[in-house]
Amino acid sequence: MLTRSIPSTGEKLPVIGFGTWQGFDVRARGSSLDQRMEVLRILFNAGGTVIDSSPMYGRAEEVVGAALANLKSDVKPFLATKVWTNGLKAGIRQMDNSFNLLGSDVIDLMQIHNLVDWRTHLPVLREWKEQGRIRYIGITHYTDSGLDQLCDAMEEEAFDFVQCCYAINARAAENRMLPMAADMGVAIMVNKPFGQGGLFSRIRRHPLPDWSSEIDCSSWAQFFLKYIVSHPAITCVIPGTSRIESANDNVAAGMGRMPDADLRNRMHAYWSSL
Ligand SMILES: NC(=O)c1ccc[n+]([C@@H]2O[C@H](COP(=O)([O-])OP(=O)(O)OC[C@H]3O[C@@H](n4cnc5c(N)ncnc54)[C@H](OP(=O)(O)O)[C@@H]3O)[C@@H](O)[C@H]2O)c1
Repeated sequence: MLTRSIPSTGEKLPVIGFGTWQGFDVRARGSSLDQRMEVLRILFNAGGTVIDSSPMYGRAEEVVGAALANLKSDVKPFLATKVWTNGLKAGIRQMDNSFNLLGSDVIDLMQIHNLVDWRTHLPVLREWKEQGRIRYIGITHYTDSGLDQLCDAMEEEAFDFVQCCYAINARAAENRMLPMAADMGVAIMVNKPFGQGGLFSRIRRHPLPDWSSEIDCSSWAQFFLKYIVSHPAITCVIPGTSRIESANDNVAAGMGRMPDADLRNRMHAYWSSL
């Protein structure tokens, strides 16, 4: 799978990871767990490592922890989760719980979810990074209206990662966020690459353009994901699914030829014409 460097360290990260919102909020046993284990196996077999979760996602952290424990894979996952609460003590409690649920002494990326009480949590994150408990620090938001808040926070404080929305139908991040992150050396993790699934309803009756084969795309999901990861400021993208078929589809977007700037324009023009 294609990799990109995390600007603050140069560490390579595979461009396709998996999000866990909704799809991993299930019982941490039986066939529900088996299916999520298979989804993660598909990610690892394809060369992916990034798993994004949050205490906001119900049982998702517990399910990721249980799936990883049962899988016993040789692949080292890149675990990303979040703190999503108000107050210093509540934040520490919540993050401590995430270590337990994920079954790991180290969390690769701790993000402040939707910037909730971010100035309170940041000193704890900095201290834990010093101690090696977490490896990278990030902030997240999921709406276009949150992009300016993220940029303002980046101007105030240094972060390794920003997680924000960017998709073929939602390109506001190109205005300020992506150029700023590229200039400042901040990694971008993209959420909602399919507009939470909404993109698929628009293309339902439309075939892929013939020239999709030039960038090794065999599905609309790959078309949407390749559009995102071919932007030079993007580090990785975390599509959400718990379906085996979708997981196989999505990891394939990290392989093969990627569009250049001209082809990206053509992709967007085609999408806009539908
Ligand atoms: N504030 C934040 O920090 C924030 C906010 C939102 C999201 N996130 C993160 O970003 C991740 C991704 O966002 P998201 O899950 O909201 O939305 P998304 O990835 O844009 O869309 C997920 C939807 O797309 C469908 N899908 C996935 N792969 C598909 C494929 N190959 N073919 C057809 N349909 C497919 C899924 O259905 P199936 O499961 O049926 O395939 C699901 O309904 C989340 O899981 C979460 O980790 C973070």
